[in-house]
Amino acid sequence: MPARTVVRRSGCPRCRSVLLSRSKRWCALRGSDRDLARITLHPRRAPVPVNPPVSHPIYQTAAWQFADLKQMDAIFGDAVAHGAKYGTIGMPNNLTLEAAISDLEGMEAAVAGNTGMAVIAAALLTELRPGDRVVVSREGFGWTLGLLRDLEQWGIEHVTVDLSSTEELTAALRHGAAMVIAETISNPRLRVPNLPALTDLAHQFGAKVLVDNTFATPYSCQPAAFGADLVVESATKFLAGHADTVIGVLAGAAESVERIRDRMVRLGSIAAPMDSWLALRGMQTLVVRMARATTTASLLADWLSEQPQVHRVLYPGRSDHPDHLIAQQVLEQGYGAMISFELTPDFAVANQFTRDLNLIHLVHSLGSAQTTLSHPASSTHRLLSAEDLAVSGLHAGFLRMSVGLESPDDLVDDLAQALGNLSA
Ligand SMILES: Cc1ncc(COP(=O)(O)O)c(C=O)c1O
Repeated sequence: MPARTVVRRSGCPRCRSVLLSRSKRWCALRGSDRDLARITLHPRRAPVPVNPPVSHPIYQTAAWQFADLKQMDAIFGDAVAHGAKYGTIGMPNNLTLEAAISDLEGMEAAVAGNTGMAVIAAALLTELRPGDRVVVSREGFGWTLGLLRDLEQWGIEHVTVDLSSTEELTAALRHGAAMVIAETISNPRLRVPNLPALTDLAHQFGAKVLVDNTFATPYSCQPAAFGADLVVESATKFLAGHADTVIGVLAGAAESVERIRDRMVRLGSIAAPMDSWLALRGMQTLVVRMARATTTASLLADWLSEQPQVHRVLYPGRSDHPDHLIAQQVLEQGYGAMISFELTPDFAVANQFTRDLNLIHLVHSLGSAQTTLSHPASSTHRLLSAEDLAVSGLHAGFLRMSVGLESPDDLVDDLAQALGNLSA
């Protein structure tokens, strides 16, 4: 195909293109390609129906058209409502998800990021300055602790404490802190800090409180009601609920959320429309999923505690959980769908158990409609030193189960046959 073209006044005899090939006989593209290109690139768009679709359409576009410079100027100058600027600013699927999250969390505004870690990182990079200090749970999610270690190179320090100990928390706050990071239900030991007392204390010392509500979801707890300033959630988990998207959300006061959103736009961590759409689709069933999974989890926790091969069960709904009384106050709608339990602290034992399960798969995630099991020491918390793993009690026999929507009897059958192969 000739690549170079010359211009001739009379044009191509077939399609009248004035851009002719060197041979000057035909236009540079086949005449028929010209029509095909125009039709495929600029199809006659069907009008938007006057009545709305039941399912919110996916705006799978990276960019938006402007009628003219005047409109572009008005939209970029925020002089008109509902103008979309770019694939990361003003995307309708994100805006719909964000409105739902701010309503669910009872906060002024929300922003959707491309992962749970993306919104946590953006919050820290927006709210903290070099020289600031963060107080975080010793039992915190491994990747959040890893991120705080990364931030040390930018002069942001952190100290780990037992958030359930008022003495430890007060001592840490006395040394100065810009932020306290807590999880409503911690990953993976399912500790439940006393959020009302914690936020009160942090605010007395001038620290903001960021709460990771991933395990509880707004179904079980709205941390804002207990004074949290920022609430983050890996919506990858129970919110979206089907293990088919990775996405994060952050809610807070409008002024903070907009500053964090600006930073996220520049860091490149805003959610994509398809992921927001999947999260919203999954959230339609949040209430029924959480209700069922929570009921099943409470049955399974009791059943597991009676099995001779299980040395310990951690479930905030059980009276033997160290934070049960606080959980009764903080987890108003139920104790969640996560259970942790301990087998003999031996890798070979845990390995055989996970291999023998048929229905329950070993997965490095949680919150899906299917029941899954994870081994923190080999996955989420593998970055911890052997000493830190021992301090946190995350030995080789420690397992974390995310309860899904299967029949409780099927789950008991599967667990029973795998436990039956282990000696007590
Ligand atoms: C409690 C908690 N917070 C945050 C995250 C990070 O979420 P994402 O994987 O969406 O980045 C996770 C992931 O497992 C988590 O368990």
